[in-house]
Amino acid sequence: MSVTLNEKHISSFVSPREVDQMAPLVAAAVRQLEEHTGAGNDFHGWLTLPTDYDREEFERIKKAAAKIRSDSDVLIVIGIGGSYLGARSAIELLRSPFHNTLGDGPEIYFAGCNLSGSYLGEILKLCEGRRVSLNIISKSGTTTEPALAFRVLRKMMEERYGKKEAASRIYCTTDRARGTLKELCDREGYESFVIPDDVGGRYSVLTPVGLLPIAVAGCDIDAILRGARKAEEELREPDLKKNACYRYAAYRNLLLQKGKRIEIFSCYEPRFVQMGEWLKQLFGESEGKDQKGLFPASVAFTTDLHSLGQFIQDGSRCLFETVVDIRKPAADLFVEDDPQNLDGLNFLSGQEMALINRRAMEGTILAHTEGGVPNLVLELPEANEEEYGYMVYFFEKACGVSGYLLGVNPFDQPGVEAYKKNMFALLGKPGYESLRDELLAKLQ
Ligand code: PA5
Repeated sequence: MSVTLNEKHISSFVSPREVDQMAPLVAAAVRQLEEHTGAGNDFHGWLTLPTDYDREEFERIKKAAAKIRSDSDVLIVIGIGGSYLGARSAIELLRSPFHNTLGDGPEIYFAGCNLSGSYLGEILKLCEGRRVSLNIISKSGTTTEPALAFRVLRKMMEERYGKKEAASRIYCTTDRARGTLKELCDREGYESFVIPDDVGGRYSVLTPVGLLPIAVAGCDIDAILRGARKAEEELREPDLKKNACYRYAAYRNLLLQKGKRIEIFSCYEPRFVQMGEWLKQLFGESEGKDQKGLFPASVAFTTDLHSLGQFIQDGSRCLFETVVDIRKPAADLFVEDDPQNLDGLNFLSGQEMALINRRAMEGTILAHTEGGVPNLVLELPEANEEEYGYMVYFFEKACGVSGYLLGVNPFDQPGVEAYKKNMFALLGKPGYESLRDELLAKLQ
């Protein structure tokens, strides 16, 4: 298995017997998923995606990525939620958080993931004098944030290149047949890629949603799917004792029952920061409903040991930590000896930074567990494409199983509608008139 669960630091909080007792419940949750009997079963497509994907489209993704790499200095990816977090986090993890300044292929920026005019204005500025391509991604094709950003950026493209060349630089990832965006793409003749009907946004990184921008960044998407396929096969193991993914799901639920209401994802590699954002969306949007669920948070260590570390060590005891331990860093640095030793750091001379970072991790795990914070450690051999594909599938399946253990539908997001309704009413969208009056009265 590529992702392994190190249970050494959890045993004083959850006994092996408690985990064993979860076996029938986990088996029932897995059946809901694999036999498609659970709530939201029309969104189970991601389960077999690594083996079932559209081969012809996959080749088109690679071709489009090669074209963008050859004719663009900048790719703007327009999307929000599951339509952007996967690509962004994969690119940072697999290439670098500094990808855009390392000169390794087109710079990749993300738009349509907020409603800030200053942010969008800065994206427009970044495009000045550069060769640009756009990838608009929206499954529904109606989400306000990306739709608005696309309106602005499309206009910039058409003014700069003319309609015909702009169309050859705009790539559209959306539903097979429905939605305003699909209609627009067909009318304008943009190359389009399909988000399968049965794959929801936050489970869609292994579809063209993630794969096109990730391929533009120069990552090997064949290897990503290979890793995901390995996970699809290995994580079918029904025995709870042997399946790290199911054990992780079981622990999360047991810890919640024990009053640990917040799961903090931590990692000691800064390239994992955006993966923390992806994990928060995956688990938060899947489980936080019906007044239930763990609140997912994320920290980057050792950076945040100098901020949230205080709370984790010493604050309210409502947390547990899931540490993602990347065993082999992407690169390393050696600490040289300094004969003057003015900084007093010669005790580190001759050490690799990786070892220093590892000792910091080990010391922190011991301190946090002694401070009453259970630590689950998920070990990943390294952050390459194959391991990434495996890890994505691991977390997606853990999330599906966890959601069913919790008794919620892990594949819908009804709560997201509340803000949209109010926003539309306040903005005067036709059809929301009476709600508008009600809200304006409340705001006065
Ligand atoms: O996970 C989800 O389904 C959501 O977060 C969506 O990805 C997000 O709301 C964007 O939706 P769409 O792709 O339809 O624009």
